[in-house]
Amino acid sequence: MTDLTIAIAKGRLQAETLDLLTGAGFIFSSEALSSRRLAVDDVSGRFRLIFVKPADVPVYVEHGIADCGIVGRDVLLESDADLLQPLSVNIGACRIVVAAKDDVALRQIGMVRVATKYPRIAARHFGSRGVAIDLIELAGSVELAAVLGLADCIVDLVETGKTLQENELSIVEVITESTARLVVNRASHQLKAEAVNQFIKSLHEILRRRASGDRNHQ
Ligand code: PRP
Repeated sequence: MTDLTIAIAKGRLQAETLDLLTGAGFIFSSEALSSRRLAVDDVSGRFRLIFVKPADVPVYVEHGIADCGIVGRDVLLESDADLLQPLSVNIGACRIVVAAKDDVALRQIGMVRVATKYPRIAARHFGSRGVAIDLIELAGSVELAAVLGLADCIVDLVETGKTLQENELSIVEVITESTARLVVNRASHQLKAEAVNQFIKSLHEILRRRASGDRNHQ
């Protein structure tokens, strides 16, 4: 039986997360990792990784199907899952921004049409400024909404800034910065305390080593 099941966010964070786990001493067969299998055990058989969409990481962890997960803060800000967040993981750095075409003056628009896959973050952001918005929820390629006039602006994630640049959009405002977080199921934290704490410790240690390595290279 496995000690811990860890939910991994597929996509943007996946490679960096696996790299981090490898650095922390976990060994997974490359064959298993390159397969389409969605649940993979490490060679010791003590740890199982499950690969899920980023937005589903909090769901699997809250329901205890996974004991832990590694997921972006952007995703957690959209989720109402009740999870422990014992560790900030310095991977997947990005920003959540308001962006628009250069010639759009948002201040002069009465009801601002905002396209996003982050409806809660967008509603909170504009709500805190007392700006009325018409929220247009999209599943992806959000930039297109501002380019084609479906929305006056977008609230979206920016990593390299390339997508904005190549679609001739500019950042109007940075809402927040995001990196990854380790999330832990509340019951697992109690019932599997030793395994969970050991996992937190090994991640903490690799992050510390990397940070001091980075410093030494400066
Ligand atoms: C994200 C985000 C932007 C893009 C930003 O989309 O929504 O579209 O990446 O990255 P960049 O600043 O490095 O260009 P993702 O790739 O997750 O796909 P999606 O549009 O289908 O959601």
